Amino acid sequence: MEPIVEPSDTAEPVIVANRLPVTAVGTGDGTVRWKRSPGGLVSALSSRGGSGRTTWVGWAGTPSQGAAPAPPAPDRDGPTLVPVPISADEYATYYEGLSNGALWPLYHDAVVPPVVDAAHWDGYTRVNERFARAAADAAPPGGTVWVHDYHLQLVPGMLRRLRPDTRIGFFLHIPFPGKDLMRRLPWAGAILDGLLGADLIGFQTAEHADGFASCLAELGTGPPGPPRSAALRYGLRRDGRDVDVGVFPISIDPAEYDGLASRPRTRARAREIRERTGRPHHLLLGVDRLDYTKGIEARLEALRRLLEQGRLRPGEVAMVQVATPTRSGMREYARTRRRVEEAVSRINGEYGSVGAPVVHYLYDTLDRERLASLYRAADVLVATPYRDGMNLVCKEYVASRGDLGGALVLSRFAGAAAELAEAHLVNPFDPADIAQALVRAVEQSPEESARRMAAMRAHLAENDVHAWAHLFLSALTAAPVTTP
Ligand code: ADP
Ligand code: F6P
Repeated sequence: MEPIVEPSDTAEPVIVANRLPVTAVGTGDGTVRWKRSPGGLVSALSSRGGSGRTTWVGWAGTPSQGAAPAPPAPDRDGPTLVPVPISADEYATYYEGLSNGALWPLYHDAVVPPVVDAAHWDGYTRVNERFARAAADAAPPGGTVWVHDYHLQLVPGMLRRLRPDTRIGFFLHIPFPGKDLMRRLPWAGAILDGLLGADLIGFQTAEHADGFASCLAELGTGPPGPPRSAALRYGLRRDGRDVDVGVFPISIDPAEYDGLASRPRTRARAREIRERTGRPHHLLLGVDRLDYTKGIEARLEALRRLLEQGRLRPGEVAMVQVATPTRSGMREYARTRRRVEEAVSRINGEYGSVGAPVVHYLYDTLDRERLASLYRAADVLVATPYRDGMNLVCKEYVASRGDLGGALVLSRFAGAAAELAEAHLVNPFDPADIAQALVRAVEQSPEESARRMAAMRAHLAENDVHAWAHLFLSALTAAPVTTP
């Protein structure tokens, strides 16, 4: 076997992700406006920057007939955007059907039942093929391609066939299930095969990587072997190539939120938020996409119980919940929205008064400066997903607390729980446990807050998004690419 590409860590990878960092929004008069795309993947990769001009292959966020809308010209340091068109039919099969109707729930512990439909799989395969071709066209000879997330798990294998000269990395932003869940998917074998087209497969946590290993053992090519280096978790041979499996917890750029949160304008806004929420002793905050995995109802139920039991009193406690619209055409998402809004109404109906609701609910997307003001204003950030790949919101909160104030209540089932041990960790399926943690969080002394926050901030300072990308790309470029 001859190495065909020399190791190099200088070339910028071509990024391939379902979404471009910006989404086209129709204005009604036939023109298009561009706004930042939702979700942690875009937040992290946009903050990462890069050492040169990157190419980013992705969808512009709206279904189109024929060619995709032309994306905006790149900023000075921004990526060159290569749009991949997705038709209305493919939106229904690839995006809503297989990606978000089957894989999303399955990979999040099947908190709602996954929908299995062969037509969705056909759409998924077709769109993955299109992404693979676009990546093959965009990659320079011997270049590096970094494929992201559950929408594109067939791309590594397809791209390997089209461009065997490239190095291919794959990173999964969401959890990977174990074999008992994965066997519900009739196409599990094809997905494992697709992923094994990569030279390096990265997961957020050791648990997700172990789930992948259990799937390989039971539903794939057999159990993986030991890693080739201490920085990795497993290794295997595939068609005469080495495939590495590693754990790379994604992060944020803490300096970005630290800077935003310490601006005088942000701090003034934070004070204003506390005024407007009735100058509570305890201000709780939730910031999420309005997704059923995020456990928004669970935290509202915990708050309701504390009010019912008189352990927290209206006037003394207030909560802000910001929920970004997401996948709103899908039934489970509409149902979750209804449930969350009913829970908010119930609390406000029972414990609020005219001009003084307990829960201030926004169904909206906020800019980062506004988010930073909220992070700075809140005494407790409550992140209670039933399952989450990482949860960047809690890292943004910690980064915003240069004053060492505030407390974090965090689900044990978020990837971030493996890193942020000084959070108040909870079982989101148990409202009593969340309630107990909320009480502990609001009662902790300023010294205790500062101790916990300082430790979490120190962790983030060392483990930021730049370190994440560097570790992944160095592992990817560490070994020569070989062909059989
Ligand atoms: P996910 O990727 O599942 O949406 P994360 O917590 O990892 O979850 O990332 C969410 C990202 O979206 C964060 O960068 C966060 O700041 C952003 N975000 C979440 N809710 C809102 C909101 N209401 N307005 C603006 N940005 C939001
Ligand atoms: O980070 C998780 C993630 O699912 C991304 O993969 C996804 O792009 C994002 O959240 C937002 O979801 P959507 O692209 O469906 O709006």
